Amino acid sequence: MEYRKISDLLKSTEFGKEVGVRGWVRTKRGNKNVAFIAVNDGSVIHTIQAVVDLSKIPEETLKHVTTGACVYITGILAQSQGQGQSVEIQTTALEIVGLCDETFPLQKKAHTLEFLREIAHLRPRTNTFGAILRIRHHMAFAIHKFFNDKGFFYLHAPIITGSDAEGAGEMFRVTTLDMNNPPRNTDGSVDDKQDFFGKETNLTVSGQLQAELAAAALGLVYTFGPTFRAENSNTPRHLAEFWMMEPEMAFYDITANMDLAESMLKYVVQYALEKCKDDLEFLNIRAIEEDKTKKQNERSKTTLLERLQAVVDHSFKRITYTEGIAVLKSADKKFEFKPEWGSDLQKEHENYLVDHFGVPVIVTDYPKDIKAFYMKLNEDGKTVRAMDILFPYIGEMIGGSQREENYDKLYARIKEMHIHEESLGWYLETRKFGTFPHSGFGLGFERLILFITGMSNVRDVIPFPRTPKNAEF
Ligand code: 4AD
Ligand code: MG
Repeated sequence: MEYRKISDLLKSTEFGKEVGVRGWVRTKRGNKNVAFIAVNDGSVIHTIQAVVDLSKIPEETLKHVTTGACVYITGILAQSQGQGQSVEIQTTALEIVGLCDETFPLQKKAHTLEFLREIAHLRPRTNTFGAILRIRHHMAFAIHKFFNDKGFFYLHAPIITGSDAEGAGEMFRVTTLDMNNPPRNTDGSVDDKQDFFGKETNLTVSGQLQAELAAAALGLVYTFGPTFRAENSNTPRHLAEFWMMEPEMAFYDITANMDLAESMLKYVVQYALEKCKDDLEFLNIRAIEEDKTKKQNERSKTTLLERLQAVVDHSFKRITYTEGIAVLKSADKKFEFKPEWGSDLQKEHENYLVDHFGVPVIVTDYPKDIKAFYMKLNEDGKTVRAMDILFPYIGEMIGGSQREENYDKLYARIKEMHIHEESLGWYLETRKFGTFPHSGFGLGFERLILFITGMSNVRDVIPFPRTPKNAEF
């Protein structure tokens, strides 16, 4: 007898064969003569049904088959009599491997997402989070596959860094100094030279600068790892620790950059539609049910599956920031923040643009003052070759740009923006030693997973969210 994955057995037609499954009990029901145990092992969203003849299995054993218990079940694979499943197991042996205490919080009734966040150590055992975690895996794999197939090399950027890639300064300090009694300079400031790395270090906000170094050698590279931002923003879109995928391409201009980002997004969405069918169908229904609890005007006009298909089927709209501001100014909607050339697009503006065009929108050529120092200056001297990709429900999914490859112009920007040039000497050297036109972007992985799963809070698409005042588990 062989233990098998439930995902295999549900597709199997080896009726009459003895098989085994190992997993956790979801439900048990039945009568005096027979019990039906639904077992899940995480390989798929579905459970397999084990039919237990009560004359064969001692009642004492069956008593311990409660929701959450770990069981090994052996039996004969049979075509199912019941509705909604294709196969079942006619149980010949049942072993309780792990009893489940009656305080197990995941009983049959539905729980709110807020409650499940408080028990993030157990929530992977729900259908919703099982589906999300499987999809997360498939999307990470799809990203690697997409880039590998295109000849990109995966670069492992450091997590601990001595520079601030985005120049925004919202970083987490990494130190081994005694916080209660740090060594001090004569002027009272902390003596960073005595710290572990002999200087101030932080967790990285982006692997881009290192990816640029590698692109100067390997041509096409991407990073994919955790990034950290200490912004105190308690929104459904922000995490303090999130995963970012950042490709960097030698000899790509902003248009080639946009083309790559659009085809990557279409590829991974298509991949989800093909490889995550069961989980997406479940989440599609979940989203429809959730919608019913909302006010009429807050309900979505499309289903999750329709939104995913639409991304694959339609070209994204490409507009400049200046055109975007014009669209917003001529809108008959009253915004909380008045759209003004020079200020950053707010969430309400992004939503309006995406709704207005009915497809994801790529906004380019932002004013230089609201973007990072490394973006290539346009001929107008006012805007930079930035591109943000805005998605329905999500807002900014991708941020990227063509990079400033001219040493003098880049240096001037660093000075203008009062960025610590000492920590960026190595970065500036790329512009001295065979500088090259190049571009790249960063995809917020959790924002992608939000879109694919139809969930509405990033805390629900990462296994263990880190947000202000919350680093449990
Ligand atoms: O727009 P951002 O800040 O761009 C960069 O970091 C560049 N270095 C990327 C590059 O050109 N290589 O961040 C990129 C993306 C955003 O579009 C967003 O999807 C996501 O990262 N992101 C966050 N996701 C979750 N929580 C946060 N706090 C995030 N901040 C950014
Ligand atoms: Mg951005």
